[in-house]
Amino acid sequence: MTRIVAISGSRREASTTRAALSVALDAAGDAGAETDLIDLGAVDLPLYHPDEDVQGDSEALTRRVREADGVLAGSPVYRGSYSSTFKNFHDFCGSDEYANTAVGLLATAGGGSYGGTLEHLRSTFRNVHAWTVPHEVGIEGASRAVETGENPAIVDDDVRRRTETLARVVVEHAERLRK
Ligand SMILES: Cc1cc2nc3c(=O)[nH]c(=O)nc-3n(C[C@H](O)[C@H](O)[C@H](O)COP(=O)(O)O)c2cc1C
Repeated sequence: MTRIVAISGSRREASTTRAALSVALDAAGDAGAETDLIDLGAVDLPLYHPDEDVQGDSEALTRRVREADGVLAGSPVYRGSYSSTFKNFHDFCGSDEYANTAVGLLATAGGGSYGGTLEHLRSTFRNVHAWTVPHEVGIEGASRAVETGENPAIVDDDVRRRTETLARVVVEHAERLRK
């Protein structure tokens, strides 16, 4: 079965990024994939240190990415780029994790500008040989567009449709690239 893992780069309890990724994972499940969520706000992952092979949960987390056929990568817009939380985990990963992996990108913004975040995510994923799909999702005014809590939802219909399409495109390409 095709495996899709979502990685949420926010540490907030009421994270709109994690909520939007949950909606995407539901769509991936409906498209026939096995799904998994890595919430970087709920893991033990110290600041990456190049002299250490394994730190905290790093081995188990990188294995989950390595075993995935597709990844949904989500980050809040922080200072026009992606979050340090996301980058820290990304530094534990490399082409062993991402070669032959389809990756869909999602950014949540407090305001209306997410282009830089998607661009920076795209280039760093290309650097580790991931196949980033051309369909991407940026969510402006994320606190209004996304509901967090027990039943995460995207209340803006257009954004919800784009997010579900992102998931379906990643599943489709993950199936093609399957290791
Ligand atoms: C340190 C920091 C920097 C931020 N920088 C931006 C920014 O440059 N542009 C923007 O639109 N929103 C910015 N925001 C707002 C977040 O992108 C927004 O609240 C996002 O939805 C948070 O995602 P989360 O709910 O998953 O934590 C920033 C928030 C923080 C905490």
